[in-house]
Amino acid sequence: MAGVTLKGITKEYDNGFQAVKDLDLDIEDGEFLVMVGPSGCGKSTTLRMIAGLEDISDGELKIGERVVNDVHPKDRDIAMVFQNYALYPHMTVGDNIGFALKLAGNAKSEIKERVGDAARLLELTEQLDKKPGQLSGGQRQRVAMGRAIVRRPQVFLLDEPLSNLDAKLRVQMRAEITELQRNVGVTTFYVTHDQVEAMTMADRVAVINAGILQQVDAPQRLYDAPNNLFVAAFIGSPSMNLMEGVIDRANGGYKLQLGSNSLDLSEAAVARHPALAGYVGKTVVVGIRPESFEDAAIESSHPAGQRISATIENVEALGFEKIVYFDLDAKQVIDEDALDLDEGAEVISHGEGTRISGRFDPATRAQVGDTIEIAVTTEEVHFFDLDTGLAIRD
Ligand SMILES: Nc1ncnc2c1ncn2[C@@H]1O[C@H](COP(=O)(O)OP(=O)(O)OP(=O)(O)O)[C@@H](O)[C@H]1O
Ligand SMILES: [Mg+2]
Repeated sequence: MAGVTLKGITKEYDNGFQAVKDLDLDIEDGEFLVMVGPSGCGKSTTLRMIAGLEDISDGELKIGERVVNDVHPKDRDIAMVFQNYALYPHMTVGDNIGFALKLAGNAKSEIKERVGDAARLLELTEQLDKKPGQLSGGQRQRVAMGRAIVRRPQVFLLDEPLSNLDAKLRVQMRAEITELQRNVGVTTFYVTHDQVEAMTMADRVAVINAGILQQVDAPQRLYDAPNNLFVAAFIGSPSMNLMEGVIDRANGGYKLQLGSNSLDLSEAAVARHPALAGYVGKTVVVGIRPESFEDAAIESSHPAGQRISATIENVEALGFEKIVYFDLDAKQVIDEDALDLDEGAEVISHGEGTRISGRFDPATRAQVGDTIEIAVTTEEVHFFDLDTGLAIRD
């Protein structure tokens, strides 16, 4: 097995468009790395350069210790799984899985053994004599995986392999693919625009936007400490609430003004962001995740300085939680890139204020029209520079 190293990788298409810009990325040996970003940000281009299906305009690509910029795709020792599995409809499942081995001139007995092994791993043994048309979507997906596994490559490359499946099957296949990868231990580069897929499957997630790498981190780290506004807005659902706020000093500590609401920043909150000291009196972008809000009737330990008052505009009861919407009169900040809008779609804006989503305990009694006290866990508040969008930390 081998890791994959991208150093200063750039892709400029013939029309002069730069789809990937100066990308540095280390996919470690045996790692499951997921690249995620909005449509058109350069994910497939990156994957196709690793596969050798797209020329590299600049930079160096290594698989293991070998520079492979000019190595033919079939000599790179990689296996790919695409969105449309491209199975051969007239061949049996077994022949589909073994096709690459046959092409490579392996002995019949060897092919049979390796196809059998892959089929067992993927629970396809019963299906080997069927044609792809007789399989379910999930089974077809597994055949596509089987075709990749059977070659025992150094690296798996998967481009949105689940996007043709219905939602339920997608969730199931997520777990199947990660388990499979763990069992086989092959270095895997997986590309998706679905942040939930990225968060649930990856050892590490690489977030990319407009051809530029934004952050590479373990899923939890990415969620807890986004480096910039794009990552903050892109990762998480409902997404992080982003609005303008002003930092001030008060009573030896700090205070955060959000429109007409004022919050005391706890010592823990300040300790987490020592660089806030440089922002006293300034407007910053304040990011608050939905779960950092709670009905104060439930989260009663928060002192008055960590509460706001707001009127409930909407409630979505999900059983295990309630998503509660309310407005704050602080100016909304929108990272349009992170919204991944379709062409022509409009950003929903609520005038001067910000529509906030809070993730409340389902026991909340708050109803639409109620004006209630809402607890804010200020240790969990994120801060970003208004001009650069970079996280204010240390
Ligand atoms: N052959 C090409 N010539 C010029 N531009 C291209 C070409 N192929 C892709 N692009 C552009 O490069 C950008 C990145 O494309 P890419 O396919 O890598 O995006 P992606 O992140 O995989 O998006 P999606 O999530 O929609 O699959 C897009 O803006 C696309 O229009
Ligand atoms: Mg793509």
